[in-house]
Amino acid sequence: MARPPMQRLRERLVRLRAQAARRLAGPALASLGQERWSAVDDYLAAQLVGDDSVSAAALAAGAAAELPPITVSASQGKLLELLARVGGARRILELGTLGGYSSIWLARALPPDGRLVTLEANPRFAEVARGNIARAGLGETVEVRVGPALETLPELAAEAAPFDMIFIDADKANYPHYLEWSLKLSRPGTLIVADNVVGGGAIVEANGSEPWGEDGGLQGVRRFYDLLAAEPRLSATAIQTVGDKGYDGFVLALVTAPPAE
Ligand code: SAH
Ligand code: DHB
Ligand code: MG
Repeated sequence: MARPPMQRLRERLVRLRAQAARRLAGPALASLGQERWSAVDDYLAAQLVGDDSVSAAALAAGAAAELPPITVSASQGKLLELLARVGGARRILELGTLGGYSSIWLARALPPDGRLVTLEANPRFAEVARGNIARAGLGETVEVRVGPALETLPELAAEAAPFDMIFIDADKANYPHYLEWSLKLSRPGTLIVADNVVGGGAIVEANGSEPWGEDGGLQGVRRFYDLLAAEPRLSATAIQTVGDKGYDGFVLALVTAPPAE
């Protein structure tokens, strides 16, 4: 039986709207998405980061040792180096070493007497990192400490603090604790940078699925934002990123006041 004229009209309207939407969004959509983000990241790295056999070797060794491919990207690594240079950092703390890829970028910013302490829970990852760091000629500059960061952080208060820059990139569930520790181990002017603070956009969903393959990660990072928002000793912002590593982001937080006694 033929459809009533009103229904045919409605269906035609729906088709026309869809056509118009495709015409408008088509070219934009074709240039969006992971493939294009990665292509642009390759272009940017080729233009601005250049041939870097040292960090390429670290990535290759990480892949050979079957480490997860969750390092920062080359452009992000260079950003970490530039931020450390801008701040004139002499002591840097990193939480979450993996194979030492971001450690190498950060350590490159240091003067000859500078020091990077990097904390890693997984002893196998830490060994890979030590090899990569030694091959990069940074063995004297970088110290890899093995153990859950919440166990190794207290040692640093007496030994190595205050740090001029702190890069938080370990387990996301503990980001709130890592922020508290960062404040303890900092001075006014310390820059705190945190990776993985957007998680493909999941951060806006109170009960979204875990973006970093880690139970409690999303809640940890959301709580981290709550602490940042409430912390008068910090001035912070967050930047969303797309690229080789998908859609995620960084928090940048500057310590503006001395730690509470
Ligand atoms: N910063 C690295 C990537 C780190 S991936 C880079 O960009 O190259 C996150 C790392 O945190 C992993 O190596 C993981 O083993 C480590 N990690 C997880 N839980 C941890 C904990 N409680 N303490 C210290 N490191 C931890
Ligand atoms: C993932 C990415 C990261 O940068 C990280 O530090 C941990 C996990 C991920 O994509 O799973
Ligand atoms: Mg990360």
